[in-house]
Amino acid sequence: MNKYSRITGTGSYLPPRRVTNADLAAELAATGIETSDQWIVERTGIHSRYFAAPDVTSSDLGAQAARNALEAAGRNADEIDLIIVATSTPDMVFPSAACILQNKLGIAGCAAFDVQAVCSGFVYALTIADAMIRTGSASKALVIGAEVFSRILDFTDRTTCVLFGDGAGAVVLEASDTPGILATDLHADGKHVGILCVPGTVSGGKILGDPLLKMDGQAVFKLAIGVLEDAARATLTKAGRTEADIDWLIPHQANIRIMQGTARKLKMSLDKLIVTVNEHGNTSAASIPLALDASVRSGKIKKGDTLMLEGVGGGFTWGAVLLDF
Ligand code: UT7
Repeated sequence: MNKYSRITGTGSYLPPRRVTNADLAAELAATGIETSDQWIVERTGIHSRYFAAPDVTSSDLGAQAARNALEAAGRNADEIDLIIVATSTPDMVFPSAACILQNKLGIAGCAAFDVQAVCSGFVYALTIADAMIRTGSASKALVIGAEVFSRILDFTDRTTCVLFGDGAGAVVLEASDTPGILATDLHADGKHVGILCVPGTVSGGKILGDPLLKMDGQAVFKLAIGVLEDAARATLTKAGRTEADIDWLIPHQANIRIMQGTARKLKMSLDKLIVTVNEHGNTSAASIPLALDASVRSGKIKKGDTLMLEGVGGGFTWGAVLLDF
């Protein structure tokens, strides 16, 4: 048994092709779809996103993020005894992106599996890794969020295709005598399956149903703000802390209006809100570790800071992780 788990290194990776709103608007205009930089910025806060090349997979992006996290933690890949990849865009139906990524890191033998909780995937994965470390099933974990959402976008649907991007973020989570992760809180409500889904699948060698993303943006928007507040408050109660103890709020990076609304509900200054959605759009399970790593590397987040990580997305799923960094 270990007392706590603690993040000892962060990393991230974005594919090289940066697509600004103006670039995307021009590409869409060529196919008769009308959008604008002004609409995207005003409604979402997004200015750009990154798209991976067609032959680049989630495990490719995730492996690079993992290497960067290992370097930051001062660990070698062969010291890792657990790999969890949060993704809804895995390389294959099976095996998991985690197994493929393990091989890319040049290691073998440790447990490796994927978690599929869409945009809440990283907080789900971190919660599982924390539990496995505290029960003694693992001592040094790689927890990764990696996505190539560009593969499941319908570029004839302007209400969704301007929102998402590709990328990966990772943390090394280790057994520790000091916290670390203070409290976690996970939820799902499957009756909302239809408001955010990719309803297709592979069957009998054919695609069955529609394999592209569908979203009722307004329904997701309304649900998101309420559940993000509830999950944050639940972790604070469990940890015996208050909103005033939070140094940085890192919500899922989907829409600046949802993120600011959540901060206001928690009576937090917007100065404490970590925002990277402007740069990389909504990268689903990768968005929280991407935002975390960017803020650690820029010097904003420092060792000892208290962080509130919050995910929300398809399922419907939501959850939070409160931790001392
Ligand atoms: O990652 C999982 C979590 N996902 C989210 O958190 C997403 C949550 N939802 C949202 O972020 C917002 O609902 C959206 C950004 C998706 C949409 O913003 P909105 O303020 O709810 O816009 P809307 O859907 O009410 O659309 C307003 C107008 C509509 O035109 P009319 O009917 O008023 O004439 C849309 O057709 O904006 C139009 N529109 C666009 N116009 C230009 C929708 N998409 C676009 C576009 N460019 N890309």
